[in-house]
Amino acid sequence: MKKYGFFDDAAREYVITTPQTPYPWINYLGTQDFFSLISNTAGGYCFYKDARLRRITRYRYNNVPVDMNGRYFYIKEGSDVWSPGWKPVKNDLDDYKCRHGMGYTVIHGTKNKLAAEALFFVPMNFNGEVHKIKLTNESKKKKKFTLFSMAEFCLWNAHDDFTNFQRNLNTGEVEVDGSTIYHKTEYRERRNHYSFYTVNTEVAGFHSDRDSFTGRYNGFEAPEAVMKWKPGKSEAKSVGDGWSPIASHVIEVTLEPGKSEEFVFVLGYVEVENDDKWAKPGVINKKNAKAMIKKFNTASAVNKAMAEMKKFWDDLLSRYTVKSGDDKLNRMVNIWNQYQCIVTFNLSRSASYFESGIGRGMGFRDSNQDIAGFVHQLPDRARQRIIDLASTQFENGGAYHQYQPLTKKGNNEVGGNFNDDPLWLIYSVASYIKETGDWDILKESVPFDNNPATAKPLLDHLSASFHHVINNLGPHGLPLIGRADWNDCLNLNCFSTTPDESFQTCTSKDGKTAESVLIAGMFACIGKEYVRILKHLGKKAEAEVAQNHIDKMKKTILTAGWDGEWFVRAYDDNKQKVGSKECGEGKIFIESQGFCVMAEVGVDDGKAEKALESARKYLDTDHGLVLLNPAYTKYHVELGEVSSYPPGYKENAGIFCHNNPWIIIAETILGQGDNAFSHYSKIAPAYREEKYSELHRMEPYVYPQMIAGKDAKRHGEAKNSWLTGTAAWNFVTVSQWILGIRPDYDGLIIDPCIPSTWPGFKATRKFRGATFNITVKNESKSCKGVRCLTIDGKAIPGNTIPVFTDGKAHSVVVIM
Ligand code: GLC
Ligand code: GLC
Repeated sequence: MKKYGFFDDAAREYVITTPQTPYPWINYLGTQDFFSLISNTAGGYCFYKDARLRRITRYRYNNVPVDMNGRYFYIKEGSDVWSPGWKPVKNDLDDYKCRHGMGYTVIHGTKNKLAAEALFFVPMNFNGEVHKIKLTNESKKKKKFTLFSMAEFCLWNAHDDFTNFQRNLNTGEVEVDGSTIYHKTEYRERRNHYSFYTVNTEVAGFHSDRDSFTGRYNGFEAPEAVMKWKPGKSEAKSVGDGWSPIASHVIEVTLEPGKSEEFVFVLGYVEVENDDKWAKPGVINKKNAKAMIKKFNTASAVNKAMAEMKKFWDDLLSRYTVKSGDDKLNRMVNIWNQYQCIVTFNLSRSASYFESGIGRGMGFRDSNQDIAGFVHQLPDRARQRIIDLASTQFENGGAYHQYQPLTKKGNNEVGGNFNDDPLWLIYSVASYIKETGDWDILKESVPFDNNPATAKPLLDHLSASFHHVINNLGPHGLPLIGRADWNDCLNLNCFSTTPDESFQTCTSKDGKTAESVLIAGMFACIGKEYVRILKHLGKKAEAEVAQNHIDKMKKTILTAGWDGEWFVRAYDDNKQKVGSKECGEGKIFIESQGFCVMAEVGVDDGKAEKALESARKYLDTDHGLVLLNPAYTKYHVELGEVSSYPPGYKENAGIFCHNNPWIIIAETILGQGDNAFSHYSKIAPAYREEKYSELHRMEPYVYPQMIAGKDAKRHGEAKNSWLTGTAAWNFVTVSQWILGIRPDYDGLIIDPCIPSTWPGFKATRKFRGATFNITVKNESKSCKGVRCLTIDGKAIPGNTIPVFTDGKAHSVVVIM
């Protein structure tokens, strides 16, 4: 199989060696409020906080070819025109490399012995992209050439920008001042923000009108302003006025042999106080922009900011590290999986090359699950996210399925009634307390539905979540499913026959019959954390009542939820089983096998083992476990969207990388380290990189949401990379269950479940202020079972390291 690059672990980079990857391979820039997507050919766009409402640059989704628009550079030397990132010109390069690193991307192109290296990043606490481009004359002759930049502005609201042309082709406005082009559409009336693109050198000209730049019949691949440019003879000063404002600088460069020159560009976003918007009539107040421009007017200021950002990532990635004999495992755990968790937290499911940034906001279930993946790195931000999420919960325990990040208000169009949602809040809060020991979060006063009059301690929200399940049980005593549970496409109350209707929001049944065995498993597994929290708070009676509900649910799962060889998935509105040997297709689903075993249902009587054996038998493939089997070939109106996808794709028997970890965790609970690791390495990108880059197509350094299942024509091909709950679940799985270093309320549990052939591994874990240097020795060649654990040479009973608040490093030796 062809490879397109390699991992540079020491630099924490993936190095792409050809611009023609099987799909654009992207990276994200930004850590706080300002974010960018950047592909290996410099495609992509940026936005402030909200990818829909504050889009800075324009992108054309679903374009031909894919990945159109970015921050593009053109170099014109003689009649040769090329781009350092190959696109958009696509002229052959003599050398090309793209390094995607932690929060930055470097694209390097060489042609005719002229080397161009473009660094792109968003500095810490800075609302803009910085582009530093270094040009080096590697020839023996003096070189004279022209450098052009290009960014196309989006008129802020990305949805409006690509639908409302009758208005938008009239509203565009810019201002040009020296080397800075300001984009100020709608600033005259209701906006108090503008953006700008600048460079720290004098320009020979500029364009701020797109059509003048490209010419009416050319695209970005051959813009007339570049193709026809003659140094000293041509003129460039088009002014954007309606139509499509852009920013393009024209810079004349002369380089002696062996010499380099660096230019710094800043593409920034500025907000201005409402009564301070104007310098004089019609002229915007540029004070804030000028401060940003000044900050990065030298290459050394850029280097300093890069060093600061590197320190930030060094710190985040030092909290959990592993040293094993397996490079692929090390790079997943130490670098890329953790990085993806942070990106997924920042972006939720808003903006990727598969999410247009104008659709959903923050998902309640998605964001709660994301918490567990990054809470050890950014606990304060996890805390805030939990409060924001809980504030969109309803008093009855249900929740808005989504909220908008800019307003933090629940989304009314989608509403609630996804009956797994409430439990994920208990899951995130439990993960947060286990990591931090911050029990006070439970006392935090949090409103329901953002109404301050209803505020109650967060603990009451957890209680509402727990009781939402008990208050919504169906005919078998299993939880009612509502519009859908984790599987958004299992829509048992929908019965849709009308095209264009959303499967998630159309509800044609009263919802009092269809039940979910997944929610039952979640209730037993996550509900247990609620009980432990109550016990810790000394609420013994409440804890006992809650435990009784859980015990009862477990019994129900073992009867109504057991199919003989695996767990049933659900009961539909006709009280028929879903995911059962009685079904013609869709006989077995993955979710209930994973979550019921995670809840330890059937562990004593062999049912759990049998369920996992069935998962291996019917769901496993070379590329991971499919979601269900056999795939639906017909549309089942009583099941909804799941049966609408062609066989093998998405929820219809695709390999959903999000729920494979549930099976893996379940395997570790049963002590099956070999099975667990086999499932893990089939979907982990670093392993797939070696074997399947071309087939897989997506970035080899991050998880995709889905890999096409065995019923699909393109089995093994991935889609929907980056923004998926897969990131958090796989990190939790490998760090806490396979390597077995697992935070708990009163300490750090060490309980690895690894392949029996592993000699052991070393790991470092920072936990509540102390650092634990852990050595695991697998002396018995087993998969699981800690025989002895010493801390600083002293043996302790059990395998939980107690909390050390001394801020010191401790050495831990674990013998298996
Ligand atoms: C998508 C959704 C998530 C859902 C999953 C399975 O990833 O974001 O909420 O659980 O699909 O349907
Ligand atoms: C679609 C997708 C599914 C996603 C849902 C909600 O149904 O197939 O994966 O969870 O939309 O946005």
